[in-house]
Amino acid sequence: MFYEKTACRIHAGVRAIGRISAFIFDMDGVLTDTVELHYRSFKRLAMEEKVPFNREINERLRGLSREDSLAVLFNKRVLSRAELQRLMERKNEYFLELAAAMNSGDLLPGVKELLDLIKERGFKLGLASSSKNAKYIIEKLAIESYFDSISDGNDVKQAKPAPDLFLHAAARLKVEPSACVVVEDAAAGIKAAREAGMTVIGIGPEERVGAADFRFDSIADIDLERVLREIENRKGN
Ligand code: G6P
Ligand code: MG
Repeated sequence: MFYEKTACRIHAGVRAIGRISAFIFDMDGVLTDTVELHYRSFKRLAMEEKVPFNREINERLRGLSREDSLAVLFNKRVLSRAELQRLMERKNEYFLELAAAMNSGDLLPGVKELLDLIKERGFKLGLASSSKNAKYIIEKLAIESYFDSISDGNDVKQAKPAPDLFLHAAARLKVEPSACVVVEDAAAGIKAAREAGMTVIGIGPEERVGAADFRFDSIADIDLERVLREIENRKGN
């Protein structure tokens, strides 16, 4: 089930290596450190609204949609749909103020090299981010030309940990889920990718990304050849 031998035949048109034909990246915390900008904008809103917020709570928000994050933040308060909407808009205003200064220098170390290698090797490349600002941030980072497709929080009803975003990305790329490798930093994202039937590389500590198939401390540490070799070796197991 996990290693489908048919994947290469289905996608005979793609110059894939073994059974893998695409990589799908999460954005926040993987390509760039927007986690810090989200933290600062949630913190500003939380202080104004007098609700508790700290880095430990912020960690719990990693990978969740804006709406799901505010549900965690304001869990003790009963909010009308209109109030929730206004809070989401304010949080986003604060985030966009901070994100305005972003540029290609905000790519995390090793990202450019990894994207180059993936493209050089002929894999398709997709983005699957819960963020509704994904296209804007990718343009700021000046890496839009790398991606064959971008799926974001505007494309699906159910954000991560539901598998929808990753399935949306695979469909756009015209590849089977089993032929995709996901790169993720959040527990919610890893759950989503696994549920989509994809192989997952987790970026971060064991406590956070331990459910991934492979784990590296940072993007710069990813050994792509080793990952591909191991996936091939496991084939048919
Ligand atoms: C990603 C990030 C979250 C962020 C969410 C929503 O999943 O990991 O930290 O809150 O997207 O982003 P948005 O830009 O739509 O507020
Ligand atoms: Mg992330």
